[in-house]
Amino acid sequence: MTEEPQGRELLEVRDLTVRHGQLVALHEVSVSVRTGEVVAIVGANGAGKSTLLRTIAGLHKPTQGSVSFGAVDITDYPPDQRVRAGLVLVPEGRRLFASLSVEENLLTGCYLKRGGAWDLARVFDLFPWMAERRRQPASQLSGGQQQAVALSRALLTNPRALLLDEPSLGLSPVALQRIYSVLPELVGSGIGVLLVEQDVRRVLRVADRLKCLLEGREALEGVPGGLEIEEIEAAYFGISERAVTSA
Ligand SMILES: Nc1ncnc2c1ncn2[C@@H]1O[C@H](COP(=O)(O)OP(=O)(O)OP(=O)(O)O)[C@@H](O)[C@H]1O
Ligand SMILES: [Mg+2]
Repeated sequence: MTEEPQGRELLEVRDLTVRHGQLVALHEVSVSVRTGEVVAIVGANGAGKSTLLRTIAGLHKPTQGSVSFGAVDITDYPPDQRVRAGLVLVPEGRRLFASLSVEENLLTGCYLKRGGAWDLARVFDLFPWMAERRRQPASQLSGGQQQAVALSRALLTNPRALLLDEPSLGLSPVALQRIYSVLPELVGSGIGVLLVEQDVRRVLRVADRLKCLLEGREALEGVPGGLEIEEIEAAYFGISERAVTSA
């Protein structure tokens, strides 16, 4: 089902600089996502990946740069207004309400009531086990199931773009595969995805384009077919070309 035309400009982040106190966590970072596209951000621990997604979601204020969404400058929008516009973060570590049921967690995604094709029935089509476990506390789910609930909660807002922060964190290979297997349906409906991952090989399989951050700066960008894994890993760990060739 195509809900949004493919390949249109959706998210445009320009020259973002973000400080956490004295620390410059991001330095002039730019990234764009079109409808139906998966753009990945890779980088080591502390590279600034979550800071980038959280700033795009409105949770950190940049000291420089801009965020446009659907050609509207949203740099000064509060987080809820960004969700209302269709820009939604699935945070690192899921952040479910542990004592609430699966269904109650899902329904927190519905309160903004953006119109669209996503409702509980469609989520249960995507993850059939969820319907059977809807009354259980979220804390009783496995990590993979919790990630599926966090993703579903975001889908229930009827997003135009999803910001996915390390969805594979702590998941078994099977659970990880299940989460990633829903991506084609989402991008096929025109959702744009900005995906943060540490697993470069996984990213190379799913991303249309990727960018590597090193200590808050852009270290490399390209398309998966045009980059060697060694080149990405060198940018990821900050190893210079010379060090790689002489190693
Ligand atoms: N709220 C905050 N206050 C102060 N410093 C912060 C805050 N959030 C992040 N940092 C620091 O900013 C830098 C970037 O952190 P960030 O969480 O964006 O990295 P990351 O790439 O997501 O790392 P990870 O892979 O571990 O999730 C790190 O040095 C981190 O310690
Ligand atoms: Mg992070």
